[in-house]
Amino acid sequence: MSETNVSQSYQVNSLEEQQAAYDRWARDYESDLCAMGYRIPAMIAAVFTRFVASGTAPILDAGCGGGIQSEALAMLGYGPMTGIDLSEGMLDIARAKGIYAELHQMTLGEQLDFSDDTFAAVLSSGTITPKHAPAHSFDELIRVAMPGAPIVFSLRDDPTQEPAYPQALSRLTAAGVWRETFVTESFKGMPYGEPEISHRVHVYEVS
Ligand SMILES: C[S@@+](CC[C@H](N)C(=O)[O-])C[C@H]1O[C@@H](n2cnc3c(N)ncnc32)[C@H](O)[C@@H]1O
Repeated sequence: MSETNVSQSYQVNSLEEQQAAYDRWARDYESDLCAMGYRIPAMIAAVFTRFVASGTAPILDAGCGGGIQSEALAMLGYGPMTGIDLSEGMLDIARAKGIYAELHQMTLGEQLDFSDDTFAAVLSSGTITPKHAPAHSFDELIRVAMPGAPIVFSLRDDPTQEPAYPQALSRLTAAGVWRETFVTESFKGMPYGEPEISHRVHVYEVS
């Protein structure tokens, strides 16, 4: 079940293996994560209502998976949403929800197929994390975000987090391309599945 799928997604050795792992998992992913108390979507939705004005559009959901995050945001009146993900299987689940204006297969960490300054807000839940999207994924998210756009994302902060991720936040802040607006307290993203892993939700504003 789920824990096997979760651990498999952290044990891959290539993008192809990651894509295949999520393609296989796609149908059961959401029920598995909910059974483990997945709470990043609720945290990001709460942060959105405080830091992203209603009517802000379009919004990029980077690593959208099956759409659990944008589903919450759509219920709060946000949109239209564009979702991107590595896994076609996950994109199929997202497509069936009918909440995205656009869905595309794209790889975070590579150049994204969007023009500069396309999105008024960007979010990423549970995806910019080891063995998934690399730390330098933020560079492209900043490029495709409009000046002033909020970028809202979850990031692990437990002791086994790879240093490249917090270092990327500092590097981009020092470069003046964004500034930190808000960060939550540390919380367990899946308390009944990975109690040793913790996250924070961050908000940055693009310069
Ligand atoms: C833990 S799931 C999170 C999905 C969704 N945001 C959520 O909160 O449920 C991670 C997602 O990232 C996708 N993914 C992994 N590596 C990726 C990459 N380099 N680029 C784009 N998507 C990636 C996977 O296919 C999967 O859908």
